[in-house]
Amino acid sequence: MSTVQRTLEGARVLVGVGGGIAAYKTAHLVRGLVGEGADVHVLPTASSLNFVGAATWEALSHHRVLTSVFEDVDQVAHVRRGQEADLVVIAPATADLLARMRAGRADDLLTASLLVTRAPVVVAPAMHTEMWEHPSTVENVRVLRERGVTVLEPAVGRLTGPDSGAGRLPEPDALLDAARSVIAAPRDANGAVLQDLAGYELLVSAGGTREDLDPVRFLANHSSGRQGWALAHAALVRGARVRLAAANVDLETPPGAQRFDVGSAAELAASIAEHRRDVDALVMAAAVADFTAAARADEKIKKDDGDDDSVPSIDLRRTEDILRHSVLDRGSSDRPAIVGFAAETGGHGSSALELARAKARRKGADLLVFNDITNGVFGASDNAVRILDGDGQEVAEAAGSKTTVAHAVLDELVDRLPHVPWSA
Ligand code: CTP
Repeated sequence: MSTVQRTLEGARVLVGVGGGIAAYKTAHLVRGLVGEGADVHVLPTASSLNFVGAATWEALSHHRVLTSVFEDVDQVAHVRRGQEADLVVIAPATADLLARMRAGRADDLLTASLLVTRAPVVVAPAMHTEMWEHPSTVENVRVLRERGVTVLEPAVGRLTGPDSGAGRLPEPDALLDAARSVIAAPRDANGAVLQDLAGYELLVSAGGTREDLDPVRFLANHSSGRQGWALAHAALVRGARVRLAAANVDLETPPGAQRFDVGSAAELAASIAEHRRDVDALVMAAAVADFTAAARADEKIKKDDGDDDSVPSIDLRRTEDILRHSVLDRGSSDRPAIVGFAAETGGHGSSALELARAKARRKGADLLVFNDITNGVFGASDNAVRILDGDGQEVAEAAGSKTTVAHAVLDELVDRLPHVPWSA
């Protein structure tokens, strides 16, 4: 029995390129996919070759690029490429390409391959806002999504002309993250990404807070925001709507996420308080400062040049425990389901796991994702976690990329969501 490919490393990825100016960004995507260890074949439409030529795709993918169904006919390329793929990514998808996909056309190598493949398909549309909002396109996207195609939301911003609006191709890093998330996602019987979060809305916090000491200095931590980002991407591809409270995260916004940028623990607390009653789940992946300056100095704290040994002392006070507060705020309601994270080293006579179990019981969240960082992990791309319930019992474990961990957390969260989504 063939096993399902779960990571980009070693995956056979077909990249379809539609005829839009954003095709230049797809060159970076192909580079990124190859960099992850994927075996990439690029299938450009005829019109896309006006924007980026076959030589570029051949150099980046290290494979010959076929541009017509009548090349390499003896090798039945229009069937083989689709059959062999583990994942298909289409970027950019024009309004015309979406229409051809929806209609099931097979009038070029790309659309023929799409009819053949049983691999998950991720589509990144890019076009002018009017075309994106046209009822024909809206309908095509709806039907494609219903069939299990992951159609990403375009980014909002400057378009090719002087105008701006929804229709930009998301940045290559965001597309790569989406591809990572789709290939690792659970599948339904047809091989499409399971839409087990459809109708639900999640609030995810990510990154690390910064506490100002004076106008130039702050207390911070090493969190990159990547675990929270992986959770947001994973939830989006599984059908959820996502609000993302981002504390100092320098990453491209996941397509479709509603992002709020915050700085300090107090700002994050305010943002979570504003949104938590309107969502079905709260996932606190952010590393929140436990202490902040009792008073931020209005002027830069100076060293006293007259005395080489002088060191200022800074008074700290505790910040709000947002996770605990959210559990208390929920009271006896079943909404939102709440997930916390705990990175622990052993100490004070207890192992990291014992400390995590005690924390799970203390915090009272539905799930606590425990990460043993005795040997360091912040900023690293790989992770090994144990997922504990509110009694400190282990309910699952996961190891691998942050994307793998994200899906494992969502697998557990799905069973703990309110039965009826807030939006229903
Ligand atoms: N957390 C929070 N508010 C804080 C601190 C932490 O909401 N002020 C959340 C984190 O987002 C995480 C969980 O609580 O989901 C555990 O964070 P951690 O720093 O491990 O917990 P602390 O209660 O601060 O415990 P410790 O004494 O080990 O730092």
